[in-house]
Amino acid sequence: MDSGPVFGDDEYTRRQSVLLSQLSTDSILLIPTNPMKIRSNDVYYPYRPSSDILYLSGWEEPCSLFCALYDDDRWVTSLFVRERDELAERWEGKRVGTINAQAHWPVDKAFPWSTRIEQLEQEIKQRKTIFLQQGLDDELDACVARILGYKDRKRSVTGIGPDSISDPSNLLAEMRMRKSDPEVEIMKKAANVAVQAHIRAMKQTLGDTSEQMIQAEIEHEFTRNLAEPSYGSIVAGGDNATILHYHKNDEEITEGSLVLIDAGCEVDGYASDITRTWPVNGKFSKAQREIYELVLAAQTQAILECKVGNHWLDPHKAAMSTISMGLIELGILNCTYEEAMGKNLDGMSRKYFMHGTSHSLGLDVHDVGVTRPDGVGDGRILESGMILTVEPGLYFPSWVDVKEVNDTYTGIGVRIEDDVLITDAGPVVLTDKAPKSVEDLERIIGTGV
Ligand code: GLY
Ligand code: MN
Ligand code: MN
Repeated sequence: MDSGPVFGDDEYTRRQSVLLSQLSTDSILLIPTNPMKIRSNDVYYPYRPSSDILYLSGWEEPCSLFCALYDDDRWVTSLFVRERDELAERWEGKRVGTINAQAHWPVDKAFPWSTRIEQLEQEIKQRKTIFLQQGLDDELDACVARILGYKDRKRSVTGIGPDSISDPSNLLAEMRMRKSDPEVEIMKKAANVAVQAHIRAMKQTLGDTSEQMIQAEIEHEFTRNLAEPSYGSIVAGGDNATILHYHKNDEEITEGSLVLIDAGCEVDGYASDITRTWPVNGKFSKAQREIYELVLAAQTQAILECKVGNHWLDPHKAAMSTISMGLIELGILNCTYEEAMGKNLDGMSRKYFMHGTSHSLGLDVHDVGVTRPDGVGDGRILESGMILTVEPGLYFPSWVDVKEVNDTYTGIGVRIEDDVLITDAGPVVLTDKAPKSVEDLERIIGTGV
């Protein structure tokens, strides 16, 4: 049997209550999990449940549905799950089943997933609003569409019955933005495993190497800690580091190059996300060091802005400001500071630092939640319990036109990324044990495990 949900019942029932208190009692809540996805022919991708079903119930198996409806003056929660099936379990692995689900998961009832349509159709017909995440369960979507589309005489006379589908995702996203203490504890574990993976990769960078060898070191550490990559690991040598989401990881890394590793892991559903960049021969060249120290200075300034009451964009502004001054000082930009920054943080510096500085982190690596309402202004106010990444970078590809850069810097890509918890006492860098000063990196690279 699955070992049970990650958190105690209290944590899940608190989350369920916060969500359900925002729904009118004449509604029904339907949260299907992710469908399984075919990789090729009859082989599936490794299964990952939906973050929202994990958030509400800790349920991890495919073919499942979290449901809540109001009955007898209270919200009643249920999970529809796969039934036990000896033959299927001998091929595919053990299932929890309805009996164990009801006994050990934070819901009132559990039913077979195969009965969800027949059981829920009548219930849906009695409710006014259907809170449903569409696009995950075709049969459920079709059932709801059928009910809404059917011109029922009784419904038109009595007014009883659903008149709209509402997506509960935004309500859940808002809740997921602030992490509870138990969530923070797990995210610290995910951060620590990723830190150990980066340290292992640094130590195992022993001269001649390749992207795939370093990826193997990183993922070795994930696997032995029962963690898995929270996204495709990026291991980019030399010029490949200038491709933001490089993922082929199949080239040799030449002597004298930097390697950029953007790799994090998932522990009990929660992600970490770390980037470090270091020279494979253990010593930064002058040009590499100039760019590296500029990015590090930008990150340091950005982290200082990760405090309660600041705006979401304040860390990015600080990073942009440091980088703009640095690019002018190094002679890479030949413009004023104002031109480098731009009116809306869209100035000349964006040519080399073309991404944001932060995203929310949690059950998803690019976690949910509105950070910049309507896409204007400085974004929402940072609150205690939020966790975000801080990840400025500078990229000078040799394969696109970057005329302003003299040859000294072409082929250099640097990003430095940490995971930061906002607290009333200031920023807490969950990943701060991963070396990042030039001195610490040069000391550890190639020392072997
Ligand atoms: N690992 C993807 C990112 O840093 O956003
Ligand atoms: Mn990130
Ligand atoms: Mn990353």
